[in-house]
Amino acid sequence: VSKVRVGILGATGVVGQHFVRFLQGHPWFEVAVLAASGRSEGRAYAEACRWVVSPEMPAAVRGMTVQPCGPGLECDLVFSALPSETAGPVEAALAAAGHRVSSNASAHRMDPDVPLLVPEVNPEHLGLLEAQRRARGFGRGFIVTNPNCSAVALTLALKPLADRFGVRRVSVVTMQALSGAGYPGVPSLDILDNVVPYISGEEDKLESEPRKMLGSLDGGTVRPAPIAVSAHCNRVATRDGHLEAVSVQLGRTGVGPEDVSEALASFRGRPQELGLPSAPPRPIVMRAEADRPQPLHDRDEGGGMAVVVGRVRACPVLDVKFSVLGHNAIRGAAGAAVLNAELLKAEGWLEA
Ligand SMILES: NC(=O)c1ccc[n+]([C@@H]2O[C@H](COP(=O)([O-])OP(=O)(O)OC[C@H]3O[C@@H](n4cnc5c(N)ncnc54)[C@H](OP(=O)(O)O)[C@@H]3O)[C@@H](O)[C@H]2O)c1
Repeated sequence: VSKVRVGILGATGVVGQHFVRFLQGHPWFEVAVLAASGRSEGRAYAEACRWVVSPEMPAAVRGMTVQPCGPGLECDLVFSALPSETAGPVEAALAAAGHRVSSNASAHRMDPDVPLLVPEVNPEHLGLLEAQRRARGFGRGFIVTNPNCSAVALTLALKPLADRFGVRRVSVVTMQALSGAGYPGVPSLDILDNVVPYISGEEDKLESEPRKMLGSLDGGTVRPAPIAVSAHCNRVATRDGHLEAVSVQLGRTGVGPEDVSEALASFRGRPQELGLPSAPPRPIVMRAEADRPQPLHDRDEGGGMAVVVGRVRACPVLDVKFSVLGHNAIRGAAGAAVLNAELLKAEGWLEA
């Protein structure tokens, strides 16, 4: 069977490089197009791109010519790793021209007719695509998005709790890695020996995106879940992996930390049922040690696609608290968009 030809927008950036790496040897998708800004257009990928991820740049992409980000790309599916300011109009133009777009950018995440998708959490939100095509006059094109890098780990951990016990209020404090700011990102003199208690736009995303993902489909839109989320987002001097300290008020009383641990450990979703190629066997991996998860040791769990939860214990203010860790560039970006595309393919949305 021939593979789906895919393109990567923003291919020279940090997330774009993670797409290139993650898609090497993919059983369903092959990288056919690499696209970026006018700075890179027309150059060989190996020249235009300062490669910063491990391992080395795959030989197959080194000589590919970087193309402009616009309609007419010769591929069936487009992954977007564009900066959000650029992504909005570019992704809309591509979808209008018939391209299927799986985006990591925030531009369209909160649009009422755009699925904000984590396949384990809300696969049914793909039901928005028909309404999106009608409302926007897209023919075969569409846009799906994956959430913010911190929101994906938080929402994966909240999903089994929302299903079993209900979730009312959430307090979350993040410790976010440097790679989340792209390259070169935060100046070294601003972050060495330091923690920066502010990341532009991040708290708004973390307070709104989980409510949409945990919300229910209501015709051509999503009714947000009635959950209040309060977020503090901090930049810390780790390379990869966002760690989050989470406290949760549940929807009912009498639920102990053991019940919560059991709900998290036994959670499986649609990707695991379908056996999607990038689905980790367990979307949530539990650690019993008192000092885990840690970014250095746990971020690559499940190939970077699992989130790791530990320190589940009673909270004297809300009901229960725990730590959750997710790889920001894999489950929080490139891997997330690829898993979304795998769900789209498995559910027939990529057929001609
Ligand atoms: N890093 C993470 O962990 C992470 C996680 C989740 C979400 N995100 C989001 O993912 C997106 C990309 O982040 P990043 O860290 O990869 O950024 P980055 O390293 O700065 O890369 C930006 C990419 O976009 C291209 N680009 C910039 N302006 C463009 C334009 N006007 N037209 C076409 N292409 C343009 C750049 O091409 P040139 O090289 O040609 O300039 C480059 O390929 C952002 O929306 C970010 O918020 C990042």
